[in-house]
Amino acid sequence: MQNIIETDRLSVSYGSQKVLDNISYGFKKNKITAILGSSGCGKTTLLHALNNLLSEEENIKISGDIQLEGTSIYSMQNEILRKKVGLVFQTPVVFPMSIYKNMSYALSYHGISSKKELDRIIEEKLKFAGLYGEVKDKLKKSALKLSGGQKQRLCIARALTIEPKVLLLDEPCSALDIENTLLIEKLLTELKSGISIIIVTHNIEQAKRIGDEIVTMKSGSLSEGISL
Ligand SMILES: Nc1ncnc2c1ncn2[C@@H]1O[C@H](COP(=O)(O)OP(=O)(O)OP(=O)(O)O)[C@@H](O)[C@H]1O
Ligand SMILES: [Mg+2]
Repeated sequence: MQNIIETDRLSVSYGSQKVLDNISYGFKKNKITAILGSSGCGKTTLLHALNNLLSEEENIKISGDIQLEGTSIYSMQNEILRKKVGLVFQTPVVFPMSIYKNMSYALSYHGISSKKELDRIIEEKLKFAGLYGEVKDKLKKSALKLSGGQKQRLCIARALTIEPKVLLLDEPCSALDIENTLLIEKLLTELKSGISIIIVTHNIEQAKRIGDEIVTMKSGSLSEGISL
């Protein structure tokens, strides 16, 4: 089985606190890997490491390597890495601008300027995330006015606009009701034919429903299966 991302003896410490301890793990291509683990064990730290967000933190020590399809992420420009690896944060971060601009931001940055093309992609991705029906008449209104669950779905839709190869999701359903949770799970299952998905969840049932691989993080290490 091909791996999309491999960590090689990855360790991360904040000051004297070691959070990730020598993790060597292969994340499978076009599968959903669900990461379980108790609060504070380092799940968010791992996702942020995979997107090279940690090196910007103060007082941090990172060692080992992370390879995306065989190339070290540390040898790539962050822009290129983050076009290939999308991240949806644990707390949804919407930009203080309209829903439409949130969605078009990365597309415009990557050179898509045709309004027709932008409209098409934005509608498609909002539909994917189950948000289109709720926002189609207020695309020009501020995204800050959306509810928590709507913001979360906007962040998922926004991450999909650039068609990443890998989607990292940090507890994407924690602010969603069961209906929207199931909708997102269905979406992720449909997406995985083209995208490798790594999802952090506190919900064992969710991990069982959608995870092709389930791993548990404990004492800074990852192990296969559920062992909380
Ligand atoms: N920027 C930081 N500076 C210092 N310590 C940090 C920082 N970010 C996280 N930590 C510490 O690293 C440990 C792991 O945090 P992390 O956010 O990765 O956990 P988590 O598994 O995602 O937890 P949760 O399930 O509550 O989201 C915690 O002890 C936390 O306090
Ligand atoms: Mg976390």
